[in-house]
Amino acid sequence: VFDSGLGGLTVVRALERELPAECLVYFGDTARLPYGNKSKVTVERLSLEALRFLSHFEIKALVVACNSASARALDVLQAEAPFPVLGVVEAGAARAAAATRNGRVGVIGTRATVRSGCYERALAARREGLRVIAEACPLFVPLVEEGWIDHEVTRAVARHYLEPLRAGGVDTCILGCTHYPLLGEVIGEVLGGGVTLIDSGESVAAEVAGVLGDRGLRARAPAPGHRYRFFVSDQPEQFAAQGARFLSHALVQEVRVVDQSAVPWYDRWAGRDAVPGEEQR
Ligand code: DGL
Repeated sequence: VFDSGLGGLTVVRALERELPAECLVYFGDTARLPYGNKSKVTVERLSLEALRFLSHFEIKALVVACNSASARALDVLQAEAPFPVLGVVEAGAARAAAATRNGRVGVIGTRATVRSGCYERALAARREGLRVIAEACPLFVPLVEEGWIDHEVTRAVARHYLEPLRAGGVDTCILGCTHYPLLGEVIGEVLGGGVTLIDSGESVAAEVAGVLGDRGLRARAPAPGHRYRFFVSDQPEQFAAQGARFLSHALVQEVRVVDQSAVPWYDRWAGRDAVPGEEQR
């Protein structure tokens, strides 16, 4: 699982429920986040580095948990990877296209995701005639990271951002950013009870289960040494401390920081059998 930081833990939470027997390696690029306000070329470059790093773990599929990276870099990752690469955008769009009754779908995400128009394209490919109202909500990520979930400021910001969706009468809203499922209650409150909220993480977890199943790659029972491993590019302590909020339970595994000095860290990793001390976990 690759994400720009810790928001991807909402996708881990969904994967844990959907695929409890699978091992998982997570990389959160905490040194370089946010991806949500970076250019396509930069998000592509950072995403390719993450792919090269995670490739050293003999993974059978890559889940791009980050909406901004799914929006900007999925095609280059799929072209480079010898295994399936699944992004959150297609999965979320498929669920929303099936869920909407009145054909009006809201999409909220970072600036990078909304500017890319990726959800509009994915929705149009699945169902003709949908009306899509997309709004960037850049303040939501820092509010969630600050822990301001049930907070009057967050409610005021949500009312401001979501007004076009409310006025447009959407009956379905895609939470097109890793952090937004944590704001589900506030967003639901502002949009009104009848609006279906689509969690892209849950959607992609179901898709991963399908892809692994189709290829006969699905683990039936947890393997001996079944484990989750977490790597970040900066501030592992902060990731571990904040992780519980995104996972809905404590993050018990050690969070390790990747070495980014001189030679690119993803190249230096190649050829090493294991991270020192890895075999003990
Ligand atoms: N993970 C990002 C996303 O889902 C949000 C945080 C960021 O901007 O890096 O778009």
